[in-house]
Amino acid sequence: MFGLSEAPLIRVEPPGPVARGIIERDSKALVQSYVRWVPLVVKEGHGAVVEDVDGNKYIDLNAGIAVMNVGHSHPKVVQAIKEQAEKLQHYSLTDFYYESAVTAAEKLLTVSPVNNGRVFFTNSGTESIEGSLKFARYFFGGSRQYFIAFLGAFHGRTMGSLSLTASKAHYRKGFGPLMPGVIHVPYPYPYRCVFRTDDPKECGEAVLGYIEDWIFAKLVDPTEVAGIVVEPIQGEGGYVVPPDNFLPGLRRIADKYGILLIDDEVQAGMGRSGKWFAIEHWGVKPDIMALAKAIGGGLPLGAVVARGDVAATLTKGSHANTFGGNPIATAAMSAVIDVIKEENLLDHATKLGNEVIKYFNDLKDELEIIGDVRGKGLMIGVELVRNRRTKEPATKELANVIEKSFKRGVVVIGSGLSTIRIAPPLVISDELMMRAVEIIADVLREENRNLTA
Ligand SMILES: Cc1ncc(COP(=O)(O)O)c(C=O)c1O
Repeated sequence: MFGLSEAPLIRVEPPGPVARGIIERDSKALVQSYVRWVPLVVKEGHGAVVEDVDGNKYIDLNAGIAVMNVGHSHPKVVQAIKEQAEKLQHYSLTDFYYESAVTAAEKLLTVSPVNNGRVFFTNSGTESIEGSLKFARYFFGGSRQYFIAFLGAFHGRTMGSLSLTASKAHYRKGFGPLMPGVIHVPYPYPYRCVFRTDDPKECGEAVLGYIEDWIFAKLVDPTEVAGIVVEPIQGEGGYVVPPDNFLPGLRRIADKYGILLIDDEVQAGMGRSGKWFAIEHWGVKPDIMALAKAIGGGLPLGAVVARGDVAATLTKGSHANTFGGNPIATAAMSAVIDVIKEENLLDHATKLGNEVIKYFNDLKDELEIIGDVRGKGLMIGVELVRNRRTKEPATKELANVIEKSFKRGVVVIGSGLSTIRIAPPLVISDELMMRAVEIIADVLREENRNLTA
């Protein structure tokens, strides 16, 4: 049986014999550019538990990297996929029509913060970003070539999105030249503000001032900037929550110069932060929103939601794709939206997330290794440092925490330099979540002892 209450249950030290065999075959058949934090070879997933090929069960704090928000194999999503697969698997929105895409788009628009939005379906996060960039340039008839993006940002790995990505130099190294016209500015990262202040509000103001007083005054005229591309909470950059003045300030700057505010909700969206879209925490409406990950309930699907007048400029044939809005993927998406509503997952994510944040904040009083705890809903970062005063990133210790947690039945990975990234399926029960958190806390105590020994 696959009962949640019995997890975690480690039978064989992972990777067990079956896992080792598959990893060996993987090394000979697949390009080895993937990261692979731990040698987990997944066989099944249900709710917030995954089982490996050797019969070990784990509490899943990744959700397949912020994808399985409604949990693995949710019966409603499975049913929607099966029913649609028996009727129609593909017929390309580029040249024809079908209902499941229209229904999914309608449902998305009922929860989207974009004014009079229209949906364009893609197959991934990176493709949603590529689409957003193209929509923005096209809206201005090609007269605005620049984009503002942020250090620490992750927007994808194809050429346009990679030009915006700046979370690790390694992602860009060797792939240049990238798309010209991208200007990077610091993201207000309150714990490590580039502008050397510990006051989050001052950090936010410094970034906004830098864009207007330095970039726009000295580098590019703002009337040549098509879009500001921003993650409302940085994902790969370290689960960084910006100060409260930042996103409203960006909205003001965008309005002042007629620039489009492009909100990357690929990771933070679809209920992850306790709101449908993370930007709503700050009452800001984007002009374009990029989505993927959780919207397809595990099937490859992304979407661009564009403001009505932006969408209206796109002429026939100007942008399209073969698979975007695939019938099965959009059927799954409609089921995902229904489940988030029916199971009150936004409330659950908010309440449980607050408990987890409180737990780690209390633990921070005890353990020097915890430098910062931050997050919204079930998008939580616990940043580890070797020394509270110097804030030296505890990179090696983070790797130990991930490995030891894994061996004890909790799958969790990192982000940024040394942050534990907590992003479980939103359906995780309070009990299972707190069991996982306690295992991580135990492992953190051990690492803290080794640090201070
Ligand atoms: C914020 C954000 N944008 C874009 C992407 C790219 O998505 P994909 O991997 O589906 O191309 C990611 C992926 O992690 C992401 O976190």
